[in-house]
Order: sequence, then structure tokens, then C-alpha cells
Amino acid sequence: MRYRAISSAATTLAAALLLGACGPAGPQEGDEPATAPATEKTGTEQTAPPGAESLVASAMNVFQPLPSTLPVLETNPLTPEKVELGKMLFFEPRLSASWLISCNTCHNLGLGGVDLMETSIGHGWQKGDRNAPTVLNAVYNVAQFWDGRAEDLMEQAMGPVQAAVEMNNTPDRVVATLRSIPEYVERFEEAFPDDAEPVSFENMARAIEAFEATLTTPGSRFDRYLEGDEEALTAAELAGLGLFMEKGCAACHAGMNVGGSDYFPFGVVRKPGADILPPEDKGRFEVTRTVADEYVFKSPSLRNVALTAPYFHSGGVWSLGEAVDVMGSVQLGADLTPGDVEAIVAFLESLNGEQPNVSYPVLPSHTAETPLPFVAPRATPGRGD
Ligand code: HEC
Ligand code: HEC
Repeated sequence: MRYRAISSAATTLAAALLLGACGPAGPQEGDEPATAPATEKTGTEQTAPPGAESLVASAMNVFQPLPSTLPVLETNPLTPEKVELGKMLFFEPRLSASWLISCNTCHNLGLGGVDLMETSIGHGWQKGDRNAPTVLNAVYNVAQFWDGRAEDLMEQAMGPVQAAVEMNNTPDRVVATLRSIPEYVERFEEAFPDDAEPVSFENMARAIEAFEATLTTPGSRFDRYLEGDEEALTAAELAGLGLFMEKGCAACHAGMNVGGSDYFPFGVVRKPGADILPPEDKGRFEVTRTVADEYVFKSPSLRNVALTAPYFHSGGVWSLGEAVDVMGSVQLGADLTPGDVEAIVAFLESLNGEQPNVSYPVLPSHTAETPLPFVAPRATPGRGD
């Protein structure tokens, strides 16, 4: 497996904090030049908050709007056939050993792409040890998983199918399942016309990646603001945006995905409690085996974050306000006032984009050749088994 080479977390963090301290910050009290355009505009003095002009300019430096066009995957060009097949596979529970669990079970597209669980529940009702991040806009993340251990969505998609606590299947059994269903064979041939063996585990992952690349959420009010519609955000949201940049949140949550672009220690200034940062999950350390990467995680994209509680890789926090408060304290050493937290939450809510309108696919019937489902027997069979 290949991983994107990154600079050590410590270097990245230093650079990030520098950006937070010296980079384009939000409006500072008293630093508004007397000739600031905001004060010259006629008729808007009452609605435009002080520093509105410099705020939008700073924001445009730090964040980019999500494009409304689909991303281009260089190694996996999107075709309608591939995307449609990928959609079917995303909703296909027969990719799991039990025939009960699909990608959509834990990344429910009707629920912002998550399962609303602290940590996910998979095969045989087993509880995993991490919270399911959203698949929405995941295509724009630097790498996949909380620790970035999969380079891209294709590599990622091969993981859950095989994970014992998730779908508990094997590549051979998945391929046997797909080959046993004539409509899938036909659809793989159409989606991968140049392949000698169109039905393969890798092509399953390629098709799912192609579908996931369509799961973007442009058109949030924040995007409209970045595109120049200064009326798109309310005064409270603008105040929250200002604080988000001024306090240093944007050092780690910036760019097109408002995060998702790099790795940082969780607990830069203060270590969070074990309920939020369980000591046994050392994050990116498991990937790089570098001590500096202990308790280092990908800073998640904050797009649609208001829809994807509970928060953090542990799922230990249910309220967005509390998550913001924790971040201020453990990452920045800033004790945010309740008013600050409220404003930042208001800003984060403006990041909800247009949710993909996905029609539920009709899945083809299995045949006599399809390997049958199984659920591992429970260690201690009880009544009702
Ligand atoms: C049992 C629940 C479960 C199932 C089923 C499941 N996932 Fe996940 N998914 C998770 C969890 C939990 C994580 C985070 C794991 C980690 O970081 O170690 C995750 C991470 C991801 C990510 C990374 C997102 C990011 O921002 O890092 C993507 C993409 C994803 N899953 C797609 C899929 C696809 C595609 C399928 C079906 C083939 C699938 N998942 C099946 C629970 C699940
Ligand atoms: C030094 C980098 C850094 C700074 C500064 C920072 N964050 Fe984070 N943020 C992270 C990382 C890393 C995580 C993931 C932590 C985890 O669960 O392992 C995270 C997680 C979050 C989450 C949870 C998202 C989810 O989907 O679970 C929210 C909300 C958040 N940050 C908001 C903020 C806000 C608001 C600020 C400013 C007060 C801020 N962050 C400052 C790096 C940072």
C-alpha cells in the first residue's frame, strides 16, 4: 500500500500555528483603516459588521468554495455506467458476509453520510472503535480514514468489505457473489469495457470510488459568501467566521473542505480526557510508527458538520458547541466564551451544502450460485438466537 508522504506532524503543526498567528486573520478590533470601504458604502452601514470587507478578503484567502462540477479522478475517469454501478454497490448489502450491511448502513446518504453512532456497529453487532466520518466531499480529503491510512477512495473501499467488525467478507467471496448475478456481470462489462476480467475486487472499489466522487455538497451559504454574495451569511455567522480565523481554527481547518487536508496532534495544548481521546487509539502512529505521530489524526472536513454528530474519532461528544469548546481548549489553549462558541457554531451551520439527491437503486436478484449469507455464531448463544 502506498501512502502520501507528508512532512512530520510537528513541522506541519508549527507551520499551521504560524499561519494561525500571522496569516490572514479575521477583523481585529481597532485595525480597521479609517478609509475602509465598509464604512464608505452607503446604505449598508447598519447591516455590514465592522471589518466586513477585510473579513471577506481574508476568508477568500483561506477557504475556497466547493465547485458545482464533479471532480476529475485522473486514474479513474467517471462514466455514467461506472457511477451507476458504484451507486448500486454502495447500497449492496450482499457485499457483506451477512447480507445485512452495506456502505450505506454506516454512511447513510439520508443522514449526511454518517450512522449517528458514537462508534460504528458492524458484523454480528460488533462495535468498532472509531466514529464513521462522512463520505460527503471525502473525495477532496488528502487521504482517507481518521489516520489517513488509505491513499484514496478506491483503496479505502477495499477495507470495510474485509474488516471483521464491519462487513466481514473476503475478496474471493465478493467476486463470486458479483459473478453469480448476471446483471452485475453485464454492468461491470459496461463500466470497464477495456478490462479482460471486468468483475474484480479492484473494479468493485473503482466503481464505488467513482460514485463517491459524485457525493459533493456545493451551494452552502458559506460557498455563496466566498463566491461574493456578502448577504449570504447573517451577522452572527460572520462573527463566527471572524472568530474561526482569528482564534486559529482555520490553521487546521482551511481550504476547500474546511479541513481534511493534513494531520495534527489531538491535544496540542491540553490532552483531552480518555472519554474523548481513548489512550489505546494512537491514530497516525499506527500508520507511520513515528513517535511524533502519536495521537495525531486527520483534521476532519467541517463541511456539513452540523449533520454529523457525534464528534471526534471517538464519537465522544454529541453537541457541536461542546466540540467547538473542546477544540478551543485542547488545540489552542483558548477558553472560548459561550458567546464565542455560539457564534462559531452558527458559522459551522452555514457550511451545510446541498445534499446529494440519490435515488435508491433497484438491486438485481441473487441466483442459485450466489454464496449464501452467514452470521458468525455468538460466543454464548442466548434465547432468541
Ligand atoms: C460498520 C460500519 C461501516 C461500514 C459498513 C462501512 N464503513 Fe466506511 N467507515 C466506517 C468507520 C468507522 C470509518 C472510520 C475508520 C477509521 O478511520 O479507522 C469509515 C471510514 C470511511 C471513509 C473515510 C472518510 C474520511 O474522511 O476519512 C470512507 C470514504 C468510507 N468509510 C467509505 C465506505 C465505503 C465505500 C463502504 C462500503 C464498501 C464503507 N465505508 C462501509 C464505518 C463503516
Ligand atoms: C492544531 C490543529 C487544529 C486546530 C487549531 C483546531 N482543530 Fe478542530 N480538529 C483537529 C483535529 C486533528 C480533529 C480531529 C480530532 C479527533 O477526533 O481525533 C479536529 C476535530 C474538530 C471537530 C470535530 C469534527 C468531527 O467531524 O468530528 C470540530 C467541530 C472542530 N475540530 C472544530 C474546530 C474549531 C471550531 C476550532 C477552533 C476553535 C478548531 N477545530 C481548531 C485539528 C484542529
